[in-house]
Amino acid sequence: MKRQTNIIILMAGFLLFSTFLWAQNKGAKEIIVPGGTTGSVPFKHHLHQNALKDCNLCHNLFPQTAGIVQKLKDEGKLEKKKVMNQCQKCHREKVNAGLKAGPVSCRGCHVK
Ligand code: HEC
Ligand code: HEC
Ligand code: HEC
Repeated sequence: MKRQTNIIILMAGFLLFSTFLWAQNKGAKEIIVPGGTTGSVPFKHHLHQNALKDCNLCHNLFPQTAGIVQKLKDEGKLEKKKVMNQCQKCHREKVNAGLKAGPVSCRGCHVK
């Protein structure tokens, strides 16, 4: 009886936690980030969320709003290529550490 109660409490806790995770707005699964004359940058948002866990590895530079990177750049509030350098820096570190990483070459990210 006691064991059963424990399992029920555990399951209720798990359900609550899942709902909490699910309720968070994770934004679009895939995003096309404008990349100037070099071409736009298709970006797998949820793949990164799952691989990295921490939203602020990117959202330290811009809020969780669609189209905000280009908007802030246009308004002069975000330096051009600042986000790009952050993307590239992490990929390079992962490559150097022998871990799964994203592209470090222009054409790996930018498409025309
Ligand atoms: C590896 C980088 C990265 C990580 C990590 C990341 N994001 Fe994002 N996120 C982006 C980019 C890039 C955009 C697009 C901004 C734009 O359109 O200018 C974005 C946009 C968004 C948006 C608005 C997009 C939409 O279409 O609705 C939301 C909401 C969001 N992110 C939530 C999250 C949450 C929650 C996490 C953590 C669980 C997270 N992000 C982790 C890079 C990231
Ligand atoms: C890891 C992915 C990635 C790589 C590798 C990369 N870029 Fe980017 N690039 C981006 C993203 C994302 C943006 C848009 C955000 C920003 O400006 O920081 C961007 C923006 C740009 C812009 C537009 C800046 C502006 O004027 O607004 C240019 C030009 C550019 N990249 C050129 C390059 C060149 C050249 C290379 C290779 C030497 C390169 N990129 C490599 C992701 C990448
Ligand atoms: C903190 C580390 C980190 C940051 C920041 C980061 N990435 Fe990545 N990226 C990764 C990792 C790790 C992978 C490999 C994920 C996997 O395959 O499981 C990856 C994979 C990718 C891929 C290949 C996806 C595929 O399989 O098709 C692209 C393209 C990419 N990243 C672009 C970007 C762009 C653009 C940004 C910036 C907006 C960015 N990344 C920011 C760590 C990062």
